[in-house]
Amino acid sequence: SNEELPSTDIITLTRHVLAQQFQLGAIATGDLTLLLNAIQTTSKFIATNVRKARLINLVGLAGQSNVQGEEQKKLDVLSNDIMVNSLRASGKTAVLVSEELEEAVIIEDKYKGKYCVVFDPLDGSSNIDAGVNIGTIFGIYQIAPGSKGTVSDVLRPGSEMVAAGYTMYGSSCNLVLSTGNGVNGYTLDAALGEFILTHPDIKIPPRGKIYSFNEGNSAYFHQPVHNYLNSIKYPASGKSPYSARYIGSMVADVHRTLLYGGIFGYPDDKKSKSGKLRLLYEAFPMAYLTEQAGGVATTGRGRILDIQPTSIHQRCPVFLGSRDDVNDLIKTYEEFD
Ligand code: AHG
Ligand code: MN
Ligand code: MN
Ligand code: MN
Repeated sequence: SNEELPSTDIITLTRHVLAQQFQLGAIATGDLTLLLNAIQTTSKFIATNVRKARLINLVGLAGQSNVQGEEQKKLDVLSNDIMVNSLRASGKTAVLVSEELEEAVIIEDKYKGKYCVVFDPLDGSSNIDAGVNIGTIFGIYQIAPGSKGTVSDVLRPGSEMVAAGYTMYGSSCNLVLSTGNGVNGYTLDAALGEFILTHPDIKIPPRGKIYSFNEGNSAYFHQPVHNYLNSIKYPASGKSPYSARYIGSMVADVHRTLLYGGIFGYPDDKKSKSGKLRLLYEAFPMAYLTEQAGGVATTGRGRILDIQPTSIHQRCPVFLGSRDDVNDLIKTYEEFD
């Protein structure tokens, strides 16, 4: 018969990462798999809290501000605490950097491992109370040979990350991950409590039809950004203008860009001199995933992953997405300079 039975051979995230590590042979120790297991657990824990936030008084403000001067939401604080606790307990980390913590966390010897994790525990805070998609972003470095784990182990270009990913808490919960060998997407089967491979080898279409900018900041934008946006909104005759989509959660906007193509941008402007997005735990992981999926990620004037960070909370302009779209934007900058 042509009726298909349900699969009895599902590929979980853990199985998939282990399989990739087996292929690497002697180098793989299983440590990265265990660290990724801890991260998966945090995503499941955050996801379940996000789903019931409205029911258990988890919406609204926590009553304090973070180092960037943003008012913290209760879910920002809860997600941060979930991640710090789990990553420390994994025994696989040495240094943690969180959007919500002013200083890097240096893990005590008892729990120390060889990885450093930089993360945005809850991305899209402004969307929480409306039930709109939010997420978690993370990037992973390995400590330098001989290092005991200091902040210098995370003040390194994004190109040196060994893995990066995000989890999106949306109509489904999706974890998207790269360990430097392409990008794969997994969907949480809540009944099983496992992330199942649903989007193998994600590749961004080389050109898209969507642009994703907060155009409410137009009054502050610099000229190259105006020129680029005009070129896609008022194209040469015969071509269709691009559609606008802007959620205001980087995770959701980047997720759509990876799957559908197009360009996501958060430029520097006259008001935000370095842009808004944070280099270590927003720009780097998303740039890493974008490049691994065949796209381009730039500040407009240079590759994001090449930036040498000087402080853990620094910001940077971000344009990422389909190769041809982002290259058009880069050309607009070149023509202007
Ligand atoms: P976070 O909620 O982690 O502070 O990040 C918010 C970021 C990012 O998610 C999004 O792309 C951007 O801020 C939206 O900013 P605007 O509201 O200025 O458009
Ligand atoms: Mn924030
Ligand atoms: Mn964020
Ligand atoms: Mn955040």
